[in-house]
Order: sequence, then structure tokens, then C-alpha cells
Amino acid sequence: MKTIRDLQVTGKRVLVRCDFNVPLKDGEIRDDNRIVQALPTIKELIEKGAKVILMSHLGKVDHKDPIKLAEGLKKNTLAPVAVRLSELLKKEVTFSNDTRGENLTSLVNKMKDGDVLLIQNTRFEKGETKNDAELSRAWADLADAFVMDAFGSAHRAHASTYGVPEILKAEGKEVAVGYLVEKEVVNLSKVVECQERPYLAILGGFKVSDKIKVINSLLKKCDKILIGGAMAYTFVKALGGNVGTSPVEMDQLDYAREMFASGKILLPVDTICANDFDNPTEVKTVDTKEIPEGFEGLDIGPKTIELYKSEIAKAKTIFWNGPMGVFEKDAYQAGTIAVCKACAELKGKAFTVIGGGDSAAACKQFGYNNDFSHVSTGGGASLEMIENDGHLPGIDVIG
Ligand code: 3PG
Repeated sequence: MKTIRDLQVTGKRVLVRCDFNVPLKDGEIRDDNRIVQALPTIKELIEKGAKVILMSHLGKVDHKDPIKLAEGLKKNTLAPVAVRLSELLKKEVTFSNDTRGENLTSLVNKMKDGDVLLIQNTRFEKGETKNDAELSRAWADLADAFVMDAFGSAHRAHASTYGVPEILKAEGKEVAVGYLVEKEVVNLSKVVECQERPYLAILGGFKVSDKIKVINSLLKKCDKILIGGAMAYTFVKALGGNVGTSPVEMDQLDYAREMFASGKILLPVDTICANDFDNPTEVKTVDTKEIPEGFEGLDIGPKTIELYKSEIAKAKTIFWNGPMGVFEKDAYQAGTIAVCKACAELKGKAFTVIGGGDSAAACKQFGYNNDFSHVSTGGGASLEMIENDGHLPGIDVIG
């Protein structure tokens, strides 16, 4: 894989696809980790005297419904990212509100070596998610070289992640991955192909259906899979348990039974449940197979915590994606904290990876993010990398 180290960039217009899809609330960035993680690549290009043109998507933009489109264009502007990036780089970052056209071209033409320009949200263009050829051509025309550093978007074959490097490569221009993608690939490769056993996967989150492919793939790679989060109740229901009002995907019951038959899946033995999600009058711990009518499971219980801790303590490789409960609420965060802590205790003794998304947010919230061997910036991308045995379109196109 060609990396940024192999590029001759001085004086060149280098188009860098970043993943600046950061959480925003009322226009304020709530977590700038993805911007921080992009800095090594951007700084190196500045130091080498490239004209650094950055692009990223932010959120989802609905181009079918005019009202939703107007909302999406307002809500998902990358302008706050340009401000934060400029603070972090201690350097001016020009922001182009245009995603293509004369104004953007003129801003690019005015750039001096070492300048940084951020283009507005790629998804403001309807053709971005369709990998539109004309759009890819327009963006490719801005660049002498391309760097893919958006690991979190590498599972998307969109115009900015796939179409542009494909065109530039065909024209003999240099394309490479940046430092963030390189770091992600090096670390995640060790859970795609396990280096040391026992290999334990910990999966949580809401839906079994979101994780079908990764469960299939992990069953071939792992020694055990610990299940938590709401997806556990589909398994429990499939095995004949009573799950109260916990969410269940009825169309996944056969699949859940089939997966459980592998003998590698561990389910919660007890559950913290409540009679109302927002305003409970009763919260109690029960056997997971006997959640009473009118109660919803919201976290793994203390016996499960002990069981899962003992499994984690034996592991040499761990891949974790998805919280154990509704960790955003104090009453239901014990399971997720316990998993963070148990993995943190393996520091230096096992290879522990968090596959992005909510579990990465949780481990940051609880102060454990420096205790894992790797915390990925890509939730969907890290899952797809495991599912596809190390392949992602946005990285394969570079190689
Ligand atoms: C993410 O947050 O997982 C990435 O930025 C990809 O976003 P997407 O699911 O909207 O393509």
C-alpha cells in the first residue's frame, strides 16, 4: 500500500479525503477526535510545502425531499470544522462554501505552498454517494495527487472516496493513504487475522440485523463472542426466554438460533430492567430469560459482569463493538464501564481494539481510551473490514 511517505508533494495540489463527520450540537463540535486524528497527515503535507485541499462528508443529506434537503444543508455545514482545524493547526484554514465551480477553482488557484483549504460537505452534492462520474471528474481536476485518510468512510465507494482516486490513478497521478488510514489498517489487521489466542469478540448495540455479517465472520475467527446491549434480547427470545418489552427482531430469530448453535456465543445471564425508559418507577435485576411483562432490559446485570470479566481476563486478543447497555444513562452504564475496565486491565498483556462508534464514545466518556491498544475512528468501516477479510473499497482503490 502506497503511503504518504512515498509521495513527492512539494508545490503540488494534494486533495486529502478526511473523515470530519464529527458529532455536532447546535453548531458546536462535541468531540473533535476525528479532526485531531487527521492532523499528522495534514501537518506533514503543510511542512512539505503542498497545497493542501481537504474534503469530507458530514452527516446525511436527503436530496429527495426539498424540506429535508434545506435542513440538511443548514445543519451539516463543515464551517465549524474549518474553525477548529485552524485552531489545532495554529494556521489559517480557508473554507470554500462551494463544493465545485468557479469560486472553488479560483480559491485553489490562489493557494500558496503550505496553504490549507477545506471544501464544504461533499454530501451537499447529490452525486457524492452515487459515485457520480462527472462529480468525481470535477474534484479530480482540482488535484495533482490524492491522499485517502478518511478511514471512517473507507467502506463507502463514493465519488470522494473512490471515484476521484480511481480517475487520478488512471491518469498516472500519485495516490496514497495517509497516516490515520495506515495506523487503522495496521491495528485492525491484527483482529482481521488473529495473532494470539484466545480471541474474544464483544458485541453490543441495538440490532442483530446490523451485525449479521460481522457475527458470521467473527464466528470463523474468534474463540468466543460475548453479547450485550439490546441485541441480546433477540437471542434470548429465540431460545425461548421471556424478554418483556425489550426490543426483539422477530425476523432474526432463526438466524440467532443458528448462530447460538455454534457454541461460541455467550449471552447475559442477568439483566437490569425498568418499567419505563425515561421515567421508571421500578428498576430491578432479573434473570435474562425471565424479564417480566412491562419491563425492558437496559443493561447487563452483576452476574453477567462477573462472567464477562472472567472471559476478558483470559483473552489475548479482543475486538469490541457496541455498548452493553444504555450507557448514556447513569442507571444503565455499569456493564459498559465494567467491560472498559476489564479490557483496560489487560494493557500490555493482550491486544485490545475498539471498533469505533458508541463503544469508542463510551470508553472516552469513562476515561479508558488510552488503555486500549487501538480505538478505531471508524465504526461501520472497522466492522466491514472484519467482514471483508481486510478489504475496504476506499483503501483497495489506492493499492
Ligand atoms: C461514520 O461516522 O461512521 C462515518 O463517517 C461514515 O458515515 P456514514 O455512515 O454516514 O457514511
